[in-house]
Amino acid sequence: MNAQDLNKKKAAEFAAQYIEDGMTVGLGTGSTVAFFLDALAEKKIDFIGVTTSNRTAARGAELGMKIVDVDEVDHIDVTVDGADEVDTYLNGIKGGGAALLMEKIVAKNSNKNIWIVDQSKVKPVLGTFPLPVEVVPYGSGQLARKFEREGLNPTLRLDQAGKTLVTDGGHYILDLHLDGIASPECLSDYLSKEVGVVDHGLFLNTADIVIVGGDKIEV
Ligand code: 5RP
Repeated sequence: MNAQDLNKKKAAEFAAQYIEDGMTVGLGTGSTVAFFLDALAEKKIDFIGVTTSNRTAARGAELGMKIVDVDEVDHIDVTVDGADEVDTYLNGIKGGGAALLMEKIVAKNSNKNIWIVDQSKVKPVLGTFPLPVEVVPYGSGQLARKFEREGLNPTLRLDQAGKTLVTDGGHYILDLHLDGIASPECLSDYLSKEVGVVDHGLFLNTADIVIVGGDKIEV
């Protein structure tokens, strides 16, 4: 296992201590969350998992977890998810794994949000990581051209076979290649108002706790 994965695993295993018997737990998506699912399975506690992607639902079921959709629960005690970048205000970019829409819905419906990251993801300013924007397929070409004109450098995300990636919600992703985001709030407002944008990967004022895996764990 490389150093980054080891640090992801450390953060994920640390997060497992926040989960108690009887809780309803939002389960994020990604490689760090995969370590968290393994750590949870080892705890052998009884909980309900709320999924944020088909991938997480499948892995959770494989591990013998009870996995439900967000509409099947009346509350979510805590959600544990990864992130692509986190700044010192605990704002972040998510969506590298194309699950940002369900992740944001689950996060917004959670009493507490915990992010698990390796230390390389902590940045003074967000925006080195391309910002994912989930868009409706119809008109996505026009939207991409508009973003291009506005200097947001969009690229249409492709899957491993080189075809247009389609999210679990049936949408496309435009990744914006920005050289740092000076005002995440302004960009978030701008993107949210664009017709055809379903949601974007700026998660502002969402995380309550960030667990950073490195030589030691920082919370
Ligand atoms: C998926 C996400 C992931 O949480 C994010 O991409 C981090 O992934 P990983 O843990 O594999 O580094 O937002 O949409």
